[in-house]
Amino acid sequence: MTTQEAPVESVEAEGRPDCWERFDAYRKEVYAHPDGGQGLLKIYDNYSENYNKDSVTLGYLGPANLAAVASEYVTDKGARILDAASGAGMVGEELKRRGFTCVDALDPSQDSIDYSKRHHSYTEHICDTLDEHQTKIKDDQYEAVVMCGAFGVPGHVTDICFPEIIRIIKPDGYFLFTVGDHVLEKWSDKMDAAIDALKQNGAWELIESRWVVYFTAYNERAKVVVLRINKK
Ligand SMILES: C[S@@+](CC[C@H](N)C(=O)[O-])C[C@H]1O[C@@H](n2cnc3c(N)ncnc32)[C@H](O)[C@@H]1O
Repeated sequence: MTTQEAPVESVEAEGRPDCWERFDAYRKEVYAHPDGGQGLLKIYDNYSENYNKDSVTLGYLGPANLAAVASEYVTDKGARILDAASGAGMVGEELKRRGFTCVDALDPSQDSIDYSKRHHSYTEHICDTLDEHQTKIKDDQYEAVVMCGAFGVPGHVTDICFPEIIRIIKPDGYFLFTVGDHVLEKWSDKMDAAIDALKQNGAWELIESRWVVYFTAYNERAKVVVLRINKK
């Protein structure tokens, strides 16, 4: 087992860390912006300095576990990977820790992108959203796109961006993303239908959907969905 499961006890054993209140408030604010837009981005801009630190303290293991699953599929450490909805860069840091040397970041929060630059995990930084519009990224650029903590979260990323993600991934490349259990409650059927429609089109294959520990402070798990791009 390469994914991480241990720190549930460590967060609880030490009592409620001070930052928990700050993180609760941030989450509440995010969920109060179901339409996304500038209001949501401002929350991420404002929290970028503390996001990684607080998340680590509270046992946010989604990024580490997504990177662990990605490294099972992408074995070439020089492969070009896009961290989509990269935020303050936790997935990039985990991929760097695993030896990946060519990871780009994409996120609409400029302050989060600027913060992520401190860790030197990324090659390129793209300030943009993933939705129905075409990004500046050329066709067939990435061996994999990874995305943590964004799919299905109100005002964040939805299945509407699937065609754009497929466009930028090379044939036989992978798209891996997390879906938290709280998000799945609402999204499960819609997400499965969207994945299936593109499978029927021959755009991709569903390889697996695996439960991992996601956020120990909130006792949350997530599914890591793994899709292989066909383009045949
Ligand atoms: C909960 S954070 C996750 C950040 C990082 N992936 C992590 O796991 O730490 C969600 C991120 O999604 C970004 N986001 C929101 N809407 C987006 C969209 N339409 N396309 C791409 N990113 C988006 C936000 O700016 C924010 O940085």
